[in-house]
Amino acid sequence: MCGIVGYIGDEQAAPILLDGLSKLEYRGYDSAGIAVYGDQGIKVVKATGRLKVLDELTHGGSMLPGTTGIGHTRWATHGAPSDINAHPHFNKDESIVVVHNGIIENYLKLKKRLQSKGYEFVSETDTEVLAHLLDYYYEGDPLEAITKIMHRVEGSYALGILFRDHPDELYAVRKDSPLIVGESGDGNLIASDVPAVLKYTRDVYFIENEEIVCLTKDKITFYNIDEEEISKEPTRIGWDMEAAEKGGYEHFMLKEIYEQPKAVADTLNPRIKDGKIVIDELGMTDEDIRKIKKIFIVACGSAYHTGVTGKYVFEGLARIPVEVDLASEFRYRNPILEPDTLVIIVSQSGETADSLAALREAKARGIRVLGIVNVVGSSIAREADNVMYTWAGPEISVATTKAYSTQLAAQYLLAVKFAHARGVITDEELAGYISDLKKLPDQIELVLGCKEKVQRFANRYLAAKDIFFIGRGIDYAISLEGSLKLKEISYIHSEAYAAGELKHGTISLIEEGTLVTAVLTQEELYQKMISNMVEVRTRGAFVMAVTNVGNQEVEKTADFVLYIPKTNRYFTNSLAIIPLQLFGYYVSLGKGLDVDKPRNLAKSVTVE
Ligand code: G6P
Repeated sequence: MCGIVGYIGDEQAAPILLDGLSKLEYRGYDSAGIAVYGDQGIKVVKATGRLKVLDELTHGGSMLPGTTGIGHTRWATHGAPSDINAHPHFNKDESIVVVHNGIIENYLKLKKRLQSKGYEFVSETDTEVLAHLLDYYYEGDPLEAITKIMHRVEGSYALGILFRDHPDELYAVRKDSPLIVGESGDGNLIASDVPAVLKYTRDVYFIENEEIVCLTKDKITFYNIDEEEISKEPTRIGWDMEAAEKGGYEHFMLKEIYEQPKAVADTLNPRIKDGKIVIDELGMTDEDIRKIKKIFIVACGSAYHTGVTGKYVFEGLARIPVEVDLASEFRYRNPILEPDTLVIIVSQSGETADSLAALREAKARGIRVLGIVNVVGSSIAREADNVMYTWAGPEISVATTKAYSTQLAAQYLLAVKFAHARGVITDEELAGYISDLKKLPDQIELVLGCKEKVQRFANRYLAAKDIFFIGRGIDYAISLEGSLKLKEISYIHSEAYAAGELKHGTISLIEEGTLVTAVLTQEELYQKMISNMVEVRTRGAFVMAVTNVGNQEVEKTADFVLYIPKTNRYFTNSLAIIPLQLFGYYVSLGKGLDVDKPRNLAKSVTVE
């Protein structure tokens, strides 16, 4: 998704903007641009493609002298990726310039009205409407013009705005699109996300919906939509720049794969106290937990896949019926939400538009919403009734790994806690589950040892056309994620199937040499899985198996086997996913692709 950076201070703005935008590259983008206020007024340079192009075009920013500026990386929604459609966008006389994240839903109506008043548009974007609308309302007071457009505009936005008449001010405003303000001794900044400002400051303000901020080089003033000054407290960011850098790894994805033992430990450990699972932030007593009749787990992408596992875990352990829903479906399908339902929204970014809309839908119906979120202070974290943070730290690679693993860990904790509170498991069993949970980080570390073996194997499949993943129960959920990891970064077509369903169609796609990855971590389903492996093998498939140590029998049917240590049957996903993440990574690496920034994808999907 788009990224915004703005700076006002004593330093040259352009290099700071370029550097800040580079920290937001993970959000995905197809063009970039910067506007700097210099001696000759506001100057804009934009370029399609990677930031490197913009960097070269501006000679590292030196061609745009000035100490105030705004920058943007664009992920096209309205209008193709092009120099013209790239932000920033000017009004006609170039006295107002805007960068925008989000979507203006009524832009066509506004555009027609503005055109009828003589405004001419040069781009196909919804954003340009904002520049002209600000021009229309501007009578010398930027704050007044901004609040006026807020009353006219429908949709989501985070904006950075410069006014030529106000050279010492930078304005920003947000509604349903993330925006933060960084306060540093050497000037002040705005950004869509914390990594963009971390080099300069750790003191950030999270801007709430319909709040406006005016930055000068040494002052930050916040306003509400009624133009009244409001006060806000800064948050001190605990993690540092190093956490957001590659730290010697070739890619963020590999670094993040290796951070999983720590991320899972950080998510589990603080919630295991004196042999009990204590989740203070849950805001629910055991009595409340006993009342739950149904759980909905709602999410997108990999977070949704953790929910598919969560269903098996909550149902199996706590005996609570669970529905798992894609947020984009949930929000429009008018789900039946009875009282005593708990909706769990799972999201790394906390900003995914569909997940946020699903949260609002549930809340509007009076249903309690628990967020499982990684980004502190994000929209889902703020709007959920309660939030349980996953402590994965910043995740930069578009393909999620460590956030995924912590989302699983959070759901295990909840399911075991719920099971105990509802009397489904005894104190003794609780102790057993807790002991298994505590072992997970070390076991993940152990599985990471298969790296070289996976790499050698992956190198044989760089030219594959189709790869299939099969499993049953939780192993099906693991297959879904293994398949997504592979396809999103290697561009190889891949599908995951509940193994028993193969014979209802997909098996016709198996031909000589097709790779089928079979996941078998559920002992009671080993034999069923082996039958499915035989079925595909007799049709020419090459079978890779991921199974528990001790299941040597599988070697009779599989061509290549990766073993994971034994854990509780409900927690196997955390271990079996590791070789599949590595497999996706090494296929993508072997093909020479942009592992961390796969084409067409975004880290944080803040539009529908
Ligand atoms: C994008 C990312 C995925 C992620 C999904 C949901 O598609 O590329 O990795 O799983 O969004 O994101 P969320 O931030 O809500 O977990």
